[in-house]
Amino acid sequence: MPHDDPLHGARIVLGVCGSIASYKAADIASKLTQAGADVDVVLTDSAQKFVAPLTFRALTGRPVFTDMYDPQSPLAEEHVALARAASAMLIAPASATTLARLAHGMADNMVALTALATTAPVLVAPAMDAQMWAHAATQANVALLRGRGVIFVGPAEGRLASGHMGLGRLVETDVVLGALRQTLGASGDLAGRRVVVSAGGTHEPLDPVRFIGNRSSGKMGFAIAEAARDRGAQVALVCGPVALATPYGVSRIDVRTTDDMASAIGHATNGCDALIMAAAPADFRPAAVADQKIKRTGASLSLELVPNADIIGGLQGGFVKVGFAAETEQVNANASGKIAKKGLDLIVANDVTAPQAGFGHDTNRVTLIGADGRIDELPLLSKYDVGHRILDRVVAILASR
Ligand code: PMT
Repeated sequence: MPHDDPLHGARIVLGVCGSIASYKAADIASKLTQAGADVDVVLTDSAQKFVAPLTFRALTGRPVFTDMYDPQSPLAEEHVALARAASAMLIAPASATTLARLAHGMADNMVALTALATTAPVLVAPAMDAQMWAHAATQANVALLRGRGVIFVGPAEGRLASGHMGLGRLVETDVVLGALRQTLGASGDLAGRRVVVSAGGTHEPLDPVRFIGNRSSGKMGFAIAEAARDRGAQVALVCGPVALATPYGVSRIDVRTTDDMASAIGHATNGCDALIMAAAPADFRPAAVADQKIKRTGASLSLELVPNADIIGGLQGGFVKVGFAAETEQVNANASGKIAKKGLDLIVANDVTAPQAGFGHDTNRVTLIGADGRIDELPLLSKYDVGHRILDRVVAILASR
């Protein structure tokens, strides 16, 4: 069974250029190593003025390359060995000078040489002053490189070394890792497929200040979206109000109420291959929404709630329909009942009272129940791994059609 995370076992060449952001490359090297990648770090001369090779050696447990003329270097024999072995090359931070070198096919240092010699995907995360990034020369190099298939990750808006705010900041490590995962997973078993995922709870307004909601954090849906992205899918993520960063490469549609979610999912599922409804849309909303904040009078307040539409139950279409069942008792029986009721191909039953499972946790313990009766009872897993197990079943259903 191939490991779920595309970074696991991948050979990543990490090229580091001279920039105040060079220190962030250490965090990237560390996170890549923790994800199971073999990281070969290559430093330019100017990078070494900001960060020492030993830092990367300690983080990756592997030799660090700085000088292609070093007779002691493991690459003395075959200076393109890194390039040939790479699953992908990431240059982070990438300086304006390195962009110019790459654009003109120069090979006068290890980073440029490896980028020129590799046939693996090359990702570039620029970091420089805003004016340098905006300069016509830099932008011409960027356009040339993009035209050759180089993948640019950032730069981001934010505070720059100069103290000014602007576009030129190195993107966060999670963004870089997401871009690598998407790139490495692009030819996965969901390549060419469009997957819609819903996540989070909804807010059903009571007055301009108050709403009825639930404890869904969105983590389950966001994890499924990442897993689908990492298998090559084009992913649309429809989410209620949640405090989570959008996974790299995933298109996010924010909604508030169940009604909003229903219409957003109705649009997003046009022509899609699969819908995975991990969201917790409210089944009820207040019958009346007060125009002004409801005042305390000391007396009790009764609320009339009216039913919301059943989103997944009301959807027609040739796509694979995966629902969740948030249960607190007789989990599998209650979940199985929803398969026919909502016209599902698969339901993910989770006991939301189980320890370390359900709302807000990074893990979940679920049972996958197919319309064909096939049951997979899964152990406690990360929500990302749960996402992959669900997608394994989606791939099998698609293949059977
Ligand atoms: O977001 P997290 O904090 O990570 O928590 C994850 C989770 C517990 C929310 C998730 O694992 C989960 O169980 N999601 C489903 C919650 C839910 O609404 O379950 P349900 O049994 O009430 O609904 C059954 C199915 O119908 C679900 O797929 C739900 O998305 C869908 N539904 C529900 C209500 C509604 N009005 N329309 C729907 O389509």
